[in-house]
Amino acid sequence: MNSMSSNKSSNLSGDINVPGDKSISHRALIIGSLVTGKVKIKNLLESDDVIATLEALKTLGIKINKNKNIWQVFGNGIGNLHGSDYRLDMGNSGTGSRLLMGLLAGSDVEATILGDESLSKRPMKRIIKPLTKTGAVFDNPSNNNLPIKIRGSKIPLPLKYISPVASAQIKSSILLTGLSSTGNTTVIEPTLSRDHTERMLKYLGANISTTQLPNSSWKIDLKGLPLLKPLDIEIPSDPSSAAFPIVASIITPNSKIKILNVCVNDLRMGLYKSLIDMGANISFSNRRELNGEPIADISAKYSILKGIKIPKSRVASMIDEFPILSIAAIKAIGETTMEGIEELRFKETDRIYSISEGLRLVGIETKEKKDSMVIKGMGPDYYVNGNVTIKSRLDHRIAMSFLCLGMISENPVKVIDTDTINSSFPSFFEIMNKIGANLKYA
Ligand code: S3P
Repeated sequence: MNSMSSNKSSNLSGDINVPGDKSISHRALIIGSLVTGKVKIKNLLESDDVIATLEALKTLGIKINKNKNIWQVFGNGIGNLHGSDYRLDMGNSGTGSRLLMGLLAGSDVEATILGDESLSKRPMKRIIKPLTKTGAVFDNPSNNNLPIKIRGSKIPLPLKYISPVASAQIKSSILLTGLSSTGNTTVIEPTLSRDHTERMLKYLGANISTTQLPNSSWKIDLKGLPLLKPLDIEIPSDPSSAAFPIVASIITPNSKIKILNVCVNDLRMGLYKSLIDMGANISFSNRRELNGEPIADISAKYSILKGIKIPKSRVASMIDEFPILSIAAIKAIGETTMEGIEELRFKETDRIYSISEGLRLVGIETKEKKDSMVIKGMGPDYYVNGNVTIKSRLDHRIAMSFLCLGMISENPVKVIDTDTINSSFPSFFEIMNKIGANLKYA
C-alpha cells in the first residue's frame, strides 16, 4: 500500500507548469484515431487514465507512437474499427471508458470494457441507454456496471437525445457515435457541460454547432461523416490539476504562485470564479488561444476568504473541483454551501460522502444531504490538528485535496492509497514540493 503525508509549510512560491489537460488528452487520442492521416499531439497528459485510452486504441488496431516529445496517432478514418473479442481495460477512467463506448458504437466492432474496483461501481446505463438507440448492442442492457460487452454498428442511426444530466461524458459518447452516422446527431443538455469534444471537432473541420433553447437548455448539433483534417494538437495545462497548487497557495500565508498555459475554457472555470467570489486573489494574464481552446497564465496569492453559496448554474463547470473547494472552505469566514451536486456521488468515489468523512475526521463540521453539502468555515487563523489517516478510496482528487489540507495542519495528514494520483497528475508530489509544500512518502 502506498501513502503520502503532508503538513504545514512556511509559504508556497514559484512559476510552474502542471501537466496537460486530462479531458482534452483523451479526446485528442480518440478523435485523432478518426482522422484520416497523422495527428501530432504535443503535451499529452501521460497519466494512467490517458494511457489506458491510448492502450485501448492500440489494441483496437490504431498505430500510435512517440517521437521525441510528440505523440503521433495514425488515424484510420471514421467508422473503420473492425474485429471482435477485444478486452479493453480502462483502469480508473470514467471518461476513457464512456468515450470509448461512443467510439465503438459507431464501428463494426465488438469489445468488452472493464475497469478497476472504483470504475466497476460507476453508472454506465446513462451511456448504454442513448447508444442502444443508435443501433449498438450491449450484451446485458440492464447492466449498469462494467464489465460490459458492446457491439457497434457500421452505420449508426442518427439520434436526438435529451440528456437528464449535464455530462460531457454522455454528450461526447453520443457525438463520437454520431460521427459515423449518415444523418445529424443532436444532444440536448440542461446546462452546458465542458465542450472540448465540440471544440476539437470544429477545429478539425466538423460541422458542429451549439445553441441555447428558449427553456435555457443547450442543443448541440453534429452533421455526420465529416472529413476530419489531420491537424496538430497541443494540449493546454489542466485547470483541474492547477486547482491543487492554486488552493494550497491561497490558504498558506505569504504564498504567491503562477501557473503557465492553463486551459481557461469558461466551462471549466467554476472553481476559479467561486474562489474569486470568496475573496481570493487570483488573476489571469497572457490570454490567448491554442487549437480552439482559450488559455492563460493564472496567478494566485494567499487570501482571506469568506464563505459563499455556490450558484447551481456553476456546478457543471467545477464538477471535479468540489473536493479542493471544500479544503478552501475550511479557511473561510462563514459557511460555504454547495447545492445541486448529486452528480458527485457518481464520481471515482461518492465525493459528498468522502469529503464529509475526511473533514469530520479533522474536526470540521459539515452538513450533508443527498444533493448538497454545507461546510462550516473556521476563519483565516485556523489550523487543523492533523494526525489523521484519510483513505483515497481510489479517488485521485480526494487524495490530492486532503494532501493540500496538510498545508493548514499542525501535524501530518496521511493519505493512503495515493498511487491513484497517477490517474490525472503523476507529477503532483514533485510539483507541490517544488513550490514549497511539505509532502513525504509515508
Ligand atoms: C469529463 C467530464 C466530467 C468530469 C470528468 C471528465 C470529461 O464527467 O467529471 O472528470 O472529460 O468529459 P461528467 O461529464 O460525467 O460530469
